[in-house]
Amino acid sequence: LVSKPVLDMVRADAEKIDVGKQRCNHTLPQQKINDMLVTLAKQGKRVLRLKGGDPFIFGRGGEELDQLAEAGIPFQVVPGITAASGCASYAGIPLTHRDYSQSVKFITGHLKNNTCELPWDEFVHLNQTLVFYMGLTGLPLISEQLIQHGMSVDMPVALISKGTTPEQKVVTGTLMTISGLVASADISAPTLIIIGEVVKLREKLNWLE
Ligand SMILES: C[S@@+](CC[C@H](N)C(=O)[O-])C[C@H]1O[C@@H](n2cnc3c(N)ncnc32)[C@H](O)[C@@H]1O
Repeated sequence: LVSKPVLDMVRADAEKIDVGKQRCNHTLPQQKINDMLVTLAKQGKRVLRLKGGDPFIFGRGGEELDQLAEAGIPFQVVPGITAASGCASYAGIPLTHRDYSQSVKFITGHLKNNTCELPWDEFVHLNQTLVFYMGLTGLPLISEQLIQHGMSVDMPVALISKGTTPEQKVVTGTLMTISGLVASADISAPTLIIIGEVVKLREKLNWLE
């Protein structure tokens, strides 16, 4: 998830190890990454674990640091801008707004074995924005579950692909229409889904396009 211009800023003499992940294609399993951090640090190296967005939001940062802490290796954490904040700003969708939404939930849409074990009832509240990370494959299921649990079929939804990059694409619709619209659009990962009345504000606030 880290773009080339950012990687180009890494100091030239640093050894770079690609442990990047894509859905179903993990270059290295998480445990190996954790072990590698410890091993390299114990060799006396200064190790930078570079991640997209914020390491503590769906970023496994806690798990990696847990292992460093166990091994007595000191560390620092540099916070980043999480995809929800970056994508929302670049799509012209304020995640909160006094007239529409007083709270935001960040949710993983990576549903294990295509099951729907999420507290759907808690998601169906007025004046709340939902942000689903990793939700592209699960989008039909997410829409279906929210409707079944009482959310209006007309609730506005935005799907943002490659947010904040020059290839950003945004598809907007409603809970009822979004899956069909996304299926017929040329969309690629990573994508983020924003659900809530605030999505309507994009009509006025879409500054990028
Ligand atoms: C494993 S999570 C990592 C999240 C990251 N730690 C963060 O704070 O943004 C990966 C998910 O973040 C979202 N994501 C990351 N970058 C994105 C982007 N540029 N546009 C849209 N979604 C993005 C997608 O939902 C993707 O599946």
